[in-house]
Amino acid sequence: MTANELRQAYIEFFKSHGHARIQSAPLVPENDPTCLFTTAGMHPLVPFLIGEKHPAGKRLVNVQKCLRTGDIDEVGDPFHLTFFEMLGNWSLGDYFKKEAITLSFQFLTERLGFAKERIKVTCFAGDADCPRDTEAAGIWMSLGIPEANICYLGKKDNWWGPAGQTGPCGPDTEMFVPLDRADCGSECGPACGCGKWVEIWNDVFMQYNKTAEGKYELLAQPNVDTGMGVERVTAFMQGKRSAYETELFAGIFAKIAELSGNADPIASRSGRIVAEHMRASTFLIADGVKPGNVDQGYVLRRLIRRAIREARQLGIQGMFTTKIADVVIAEYGTVYPEVAASAAVIREELGREEEKFAETLEHGIKEFARLIGRIPPHIANKVISGKNAFFLYETYGFPLELTTEMAKEQGFKVDEAGFQEAYKKHQELSRAGAEQKFKGGLADSSEKTAALHSATHLLHAALRQVLGGHVAQAGSNITAERLRFDFSHGDKMTPEQIAQVEAIVNEAIKKDMPITCEETTVEAAKAAGAIGLFGEKYGELVKVYTMGDASKEICGGPHAERTGQLGPFKIQKEESSSRGVRRIKAVLG
Ligand code: ALA
Repeated sequence: MTANELRQAYIEFFKSHGHARIQSAPLVPENDPTCLFTTAGMHPLVPFLIGEKHPAGKRLVNVQKCLRTGDIDEVGDPFHLTFFEMLGNWSLGDYFKKEAITLSFQFLTERLGFAKERIKVTCFAGDADCPRDTEAAGIWMSLGIPEANICYLGKKDNWWGPAGQTGPCGPDTEMFVPLDRADCGSECGPACGCGKWVEIWNDVFMQYNKTAEGKYELLAQPNVDTGMGVERVTAFMQGKRSAYETELFAGIFAKIAELSGNADPIASRSGRIVAEHMRASTFLIADGVKPGNVDQGYVLRRLIRRAIREARQLGIQGMFTTKIADVVIAEYGTVYPEVAASAAVIREELGREEEKFAETLEHGIKEFARLIGRIPPHIANKVISGKNAFFLYETYGFPLELTTEMAKEQGFKVDEAGFQEAYKKHQELSRAGAEQKFKGGLADSSEKTAALHSATHLLHAALRQVLGGHVAQAGSNITAERLRFDFSHGDKMTPEQIAQVEAIVNEAIKKDMPITCEETTVEAAKAAGAIGLFGEKYGELVKVYTMGDASKEICGGPHAERTGQLGPFKIQKEESSSRGVRRIKAVLG
């Protein structure tokens, strides 16, 4: 089974059981400044898991692009990926354990062809927060999974979420299938950790909301959230040990082989890093991320630079990133049209970053020569200290292997243990920094985000007033610092139009109008002149936010209480986002 067949089989199966397909959300979460990336299919659905009505209904299915940076240093082994695709189906207060497990069981046995004897499952063992999930286990048994193939594990294994520090979460049941090799012993199974049993699917029974105080409150509606990794299952179905050996990476490795002259780059750690990081970088740029020094941009920069360093190790000379990105674009462009649509930007950003990094490396080579030159030729013990090796790594992006190799050419050794020590110390410091930032971000972000979100509504209304009724939201992203709003409009805005829009928004802010919210049907909302972003399928209740006479818009919130809380509004940038779509970045205060 190919990855494409798997995606299709999954979507079709759930559609045939009443699920509406929704599109993958972008890799950068919209309106959630507390997380850098979308890490699971449920992430964009959080408002709907906590009770908001989803316009497409209560049963959803999709393939979601995800990025997880937790294991970035692990990438290179045969299994870890930063970017991956997640298949998921959801029940938003509709079906629960029985139907979810039955659907999973049917898909695994009927569509993927697993004999039920080849499936083992785990269920939540229970603790003070939530009882043992004998109900889930009972359902598995009623479907024919023998009791011996069900094991109970604790929160560490059988609990999922929240995605950030607070939000929807709950006990889960995970499905495992065996690799074609001997058991490690009579107790071999999901819990033994020998690696024979591979987790391929997770059904989460999302019935709790974790609060900022760490309490688990029951959600108003019990939901089901599931996740199945496309790369992992594709590899498994093809009898491959790793995603890198599947067709998902075949074209990328062919290109790497051609560029490097290395006939088998899959076998090389460097080759796998280049392939993985270039794929992830291409998707990130397609979703609007640009290499930079903070947040998402920094992660992207790290991915690209690490790919470049490893490419050198592999023997790739000269500029190459766009050549690999072209393969990713060609192979994924039909499944993810935004990747094809952003081809020019992807090439431009990668090319620019590669040039910049080449310069840095050049400076590093000079610095290296200077370091060596400081040591008099008659010294017998020619060692580059760990501190200096780390300095080269940190400032000029020299991997330890590169420093060691260059040192060897000059008859030097490198204090590798010292390097590791410096590296570890740095990691601890930056982790502490990141945690600090995360906390700070959470503590003060909610009010700012709400204000920026309200400003987005005022901006939307003002753009329609100045440019015309064809303006519609094409995307929105809010960090604690700024808003970013994409909207349909063909031409670059003139400075006069920008000034006019700013003036209208600032006028609405100055009037200090109340921001009110009411629940109503879509039809009534539209009749009242609200602008909606969801498109067709409504019918159910939605929230409409009204800001005096300035704006009326269907939206999940949250918002400020009065427009006066917003502070002066300033457009910082107006640029093209893609064909027919413009992008505005704006700030408050
Ligand atoms: N959200 C769940 C996961 O990522 C399904 O495993």
